[in-house]
Amino acid sequence: MHWLESSRRSFLKQLGAAGALALSASGSSADALSTGAAQASPSASDEKQADTRAQRMAWWHQAKFGMFIHWGLYSVIGQHEWAMEVEGVPIPQYELLAKNFKPRPNAARDWARLAKRAGQKYMVMTTKHHEGFCHWDTKLTDYCAPKQGPGRDLVREFVDAAREEGLRVGFYYSLMDWHHPDGARCKTDEAARKRFVEYTHGLIRELMTNYGKIDVLWYDVDWPLTPEQWESERMNQMVFELQPDIIVNNRNGLEGDFSTPEQEIRAAASGRAWETCMTLNDSWGFNRYDDAWKTPKTIVDNLATCARGGGNYLLNIGPMPDGSIPPESVTVLEAVGKWLDTNGTSIYGTDRGNFSWNTNANYTRRGNTLYIHQHFWPGHTPAAEWLSFYQPEAVIAIGGLKPKALSAKLLKTGQPIKFTQDEFRLRLTGLPVQAPDQPATVIAVECDGEPVIDHEANRPLWPRYKVGIS
Ligand code: GLC
Repeated sequence: MHWLESSRRSFLKQLGAAGALALSASGSSADALSTGAAQASPSASDEKQADTRAQRMAWWHQAKFGMFIHWGLYSVIGQHEWAMEVEGVPIPQYELLAKNFKPRPNAARDWARLAKRAGQKYMVMTTKHHEGFCHWDTKLTDYCAPKQGPGRDLVREFVDAAREEGLRVGFYYSLMDWHHPDGARCKTDEAARKRFVEYTHGLIRELMTNYGKIDVLWYDVDWPLTPEQWESERMNQMVFELQPDIIVNNRNGLEGDFSTPEQEIRAAASGRAWETCMTLNDSWGFNRYDDAWKTPKTIVDNLATCARGGGNYLLNIGPMPDGSIPPESVTVLEAVGKWLDTNGTSIYGTDRGNFSWNTNANYTRRGNTLYIHQHFWPGHTPAAEWLSFYQPEAVIAIGGLKPKALSAKLLKTGQPIKFTQDEFRLRLTGLPVQAPDQPATVIAVECDGEPVIDHEANRPLWPRYKVGIS
């Protein structure tokens, strides 16, 4: 991450924004999974939600992969969704964007079709971002899509499009509001706070009432109020009364159903659900000149890293003002979807695993099956050709795998793979020199118990060659 991103993050942190909980920003899959992310203490409504959590979240744990969509007036500027604040745009000027925001009809259909092709199972769209513009037909403000440039309800289009593709529907909602007159003064003026909280709860009520069954409510930045001042418990109670099967995140200051590490992959403590949200380049909203696109390899690896930690991956697109998806995003997502078509078994519905790091491979598991995601294929070393034991084959060795492997196959084709196993490692042999699949080749290894990989466990075994023993 470049310094701007991190300075924005420290700014958010100073503001006490819940969104800034995850601070070590990085899009890299090399991020180690760590446990014990900070959590707020459970509230009464949290405890009530806990009773139904497993059942409400079952589909989400299976799903693993979702599409985040950041789309708003900021897309018209095309310089990241924080442009209003970062560039200090005066409100009357910013409001002109609302008049000039004229997306083509049903752009959301293309998003939903792309999500489907990409293997994503749910979509979360910004219904109102920090800029305060509402994408739906609200009775509470004129600063909304039907009464401005678009002339229609964009949330309705989104919901219909997602449902048409059989995808689950999520609403992102920013509590922080730079446009509303009470959005900042609510911190110091009690009358303004009351008005603004009623406005906020009223908007959320509309979203939870007018669009049928909603699967995810994704709160964001709770600046400038505390959970008590937002009346977050009452907020969640209303949400669950209107949508008993919904799941909510933790960014209205309460624990909610899941944690939301941002731009980093950080597993919550075992038993706590989590979802990493991440950009495809470095921006959430459309940013015309941001060319820092992640590759399909990185995305597949990140998805596997989330899955191995028992988490989900919510990957963002930032559509252009007319609603079209930047072509680079389409290319990457289609490549990921193609890979998932034949390798999805190694991701969807997998269980949290306990595996050492490996630069060349990632691991996931389902029950007793280990999935080795080999993203850097070993090939063979040129030097091997000089050696008498040279074989035109690749070998993959995994140090510290327990327990016993029973069978191994290429996931994509089902082709069996030969192997040997001793106390130190599993060796998969007779593999082709060229990687059979891209961006990662998945090998499924059936074991006679839960597969665990701990290459450190080999350390005490090294003196077997009497090295260092006099
Ligand atoms: C942060 C940003 C916001 C973005 C969100 C996504 O809170 O302020 O722009 O929508 O992260 O997680």
